[in-house]
Amino acid sequence: MLFDPRPKNSRKDLFDREEELEELKKAVRRYPIVLLLGIRRVGKSSLLKVALNELENGIYIDVRELYFSSGGWITVDSLTNALERALNSLKPSFRRKITEALRSVKGVTVAGVTLKFESRVSLPDVLNALNDVGVIMAFDEAQYLRYYGARGGKEFLAMVAYAYDNLENMRFVFSGSEVGSLHDFLGTANYDSPLYGRVYGEITVKPFSRELSREFFRRGFEEAGMKVEEKLIERTVELLDGIPGWLVEFGYNYIETRDFDRAMESVILKAEKFMEGELRELARRSERYILILKAIAMGFDRWELIKDYLEARSGKIPNPRLANLLRNLEKMSWIRKVYRDGTKRYEIVDPVVARILRKFSRQAGL
Ligand SMILES: Nc1ncnc2c1ncn2[C@@H]1O[C@H](COP(=O)(O)OP(=O)(O)OP(=O)(O)O)[C@@H](O)[C@H]1O
Ligand SMILES: [Mg+2]
Repeated sequence: MLFDPRPKNSRKDLFDREEELEELKKAVRRYPIVLLLGIRRVGKSSLLKVALNELENGIYIDVRELYFSSGGWITVDSLTNALERALNSLKPSFRRKITEALRSVKGVTVAGVTLKFESRVSLPDVLNALNDVGVIMAFDEAQYLRYYGARGGKEFLAMVAYAYDNLENMRFVFSGSEVGSLHDFLGTANYDSPLYGRVYGEITVKPFSRELSREFFRRGFEEAGMKVEEKLIERTVELLDGIPGWLVEFGYNYIETRDFDRAMESVILKAEKFMEGELRELARRSERYILILKAIAMGFDRWELIKDYLEARSGKIPNPRLANLLRNLEKMSWIRKVYRDGTKRYEIVDPVVARILRKFSRQAGL
């Protein structure tokens, strides 16, 4: 069902995206490492899951979930457990091959087609064995791997670099909403990174165009047996800007309530819940990030205006520090630079996030 709010697993539930799907599969055949990029709620996980399902030798690990469920620190044990769970949820035919390949690895026990990793199992040993079968390891929201181990994820990258150089049947897909952060983390252009100099494929998932968004709504409502006026579709598309996650949320709720305002309100509530964790994570790094986002959302979108807004609320800030904060927010895909009337301005990438930030600012009287 198109308006199902969970990530899609099969092509029949995925609207459009044929090109991206083929591109992703082609890239995985061609490159040992593939990056799948796109802003929050744009449909990365769905695309990844559908592709892995069709390729049949893929393993899916949600690193963001791993990060939040293990209290903000990803240990070797938690990654090993996640891998064990992912392997045990594979289709039986492929799982049989995997269990055969892993049977002789120290620290792995096999009961039927169920695997168990003991804590002494070595991940490089597991990768070596998986190479005999040829496996795609997909890490969703991979920028959270920087919280793996004690050295900002370097041990993990060293393992990937080893696989890149020696295990020709292994493939890695890293998806991420924080485009620049993911590039920085992998560091293929950074001399200090274990992955320095490695080549990778890159695919970007974009929001739907206006026309595709309209078509998405028509199809979704038709599927639900509902007739909806073009005017309403037009108004919704205008507000949600082609981001499939929000379109689905609206569609799903409109079918329930048949009320535009209530459906839109539930999009905002859902988005607030969804963004809560991410905004808290951002605030933990610096409260100023939140202030900057609020400033931009409220229309203080030029350098001087942002600086004034910030200084009035959190004290003086040197220019290089502000430049750095803005650059980081861009890397995390919260904001982007635009040039209007010959002036550099910043805008919030996702209009729903901008609305939430304005609401929070009003509530806090900022
Ligand atoms: N092409 C599509 N067709 C139908 N539904 C889609 C499509 N792309 C995304 N969706 C829906 O949008 C929502 C968000 O999709 P998904 O979780 O795949 O995105 P994401 O980019 O991984 O988001 P997040 O930033 O939350 O990880 C889900 O409800 C999913 O079902
Ligand atoms: Mg996702």
